[in-house]
Amino acid sequence: MAVLVTGGAGYIGSHMVLALIDAGEDVVVLDNLSTGFRACVHPQARLVVGDVADAALVERLISEHGIEAVVHFAAKLIVPESVTDPLDYYLANTVKTRALLSTLLAANVKRFVFSSTAAVYGTTGMEPVSEDAATLPISPYGSSKLMTEWMLRDSAAAYGLNYVALRYFNVAGADPLGRSGQLTQNATHLIKVACESAVGKRPGMEVFGTDYPTPDGTCVRDYIHVTDLVSAHLDALRHLRAGGETLTLNCGYGTGYSVLEVIDTVQRVSGVNFPVKMSPRRAGDPPAIVAGAARIRANLGWKPALDYLPTIVEHALKWERKHAAKSSAAA
Ligand code: UFG
Repeated sequence: MAVLVTGGAGYIGSHMVLALIDAGEDVVVLDNLSTGFRACVHPQARLVVGDVADAALVERLISEHGIEAVVHFAAKLIVPESVTDPLDYYLANTVKTRALLSTLLAANVKRFVFSSTAAVYGTTGMEPVSEDAATLPISPYGSSKLMTEWMLRDSAAAYGLNYVALRYFNVAGADPLGRSGQLTQNATHLIKVACESAVGKRPGMEVFGTDYPTPDGTCVRDYIHVTDLVSAHLDALRHLRAGGETLTLNCGYGTGYSVLEVIDTVQRVSGVNFPVKMSPRRAGDPPAIVAGAARIRANLGWKPALDYLPTIVEHALKWERKHAAKSSAAA
């Protein structure tokens, strides 16, 4: 029996594969390598290059490898890109997931862990947002993921699908042992951008918006270490295998940090005071989004181990330095 990890060559997916292999699981990765990297896939996992909507391929993987559960990361995830090309996001995130679900259910594979997002909530305030809050996404990215949550909900009722949908807050950091990390080109994520600035890959960075209704005027987010995030997926798998009920859970720590606090942490941990420019707001950024984090601990027994911003930054920096060293050796 094996676990199918879609998008397992990507940032979060590759960390999930590491965690599954570390736990002694048999892992098959399905990734189209549109944004993922072959080199990120653990050598003990079998990488199949292909599309989640390719029913014949997925059927073959299920029967050849005895797939009993699926962890579905394959998706597009850049919020501003979803605004300029929404149909591409509905295709990648919604339509293709519908095809995957249909193939899985036809083959009686009913355990499904889904990468959802805090973007399903839309504009929230400084108060932690609970899973019961209204879902009013403000981007096609958020809508594309919310539509998939609805498909899961209705498929659970109609076909007996058992799933856990995890709504990720801001994922950052890298494997503490340095085996994987974020390789995204032209990254837009705050911690990645700040770490790239600290190692000299960028000349400096910008703070997008200093006039938000937050304590220091910059946006507040709940940053979660990628290794803690994947441990939540392992807990979700265990839960489903034990016959646990279908759940939709926030995946964050419940603590918010402003953009300036994050940059200050990266400068302190790295010891590099890279240039930082104050700039206008970036379109589509909600002022603050912090997870109500009680339910995942209560329902899955999730115990984060790396919930400390300087640790997240330290691991992200270690990864960035390793890559900066590799690129300069290759040059
Ligand atoms: N920011 C900067 N400068 C930068 C990069 C980011 O000031 O160079 C700011 C952004 O404007 C924002 C904050 O840092 O205020 C966080 O931005 P990120 O791009 O790191 O992350 P987002 O909060 O925009 O998006 C993340 C995920 C999405 C998810 C969303 C949910 O990337 O997939 O959280 O809140 F939908």
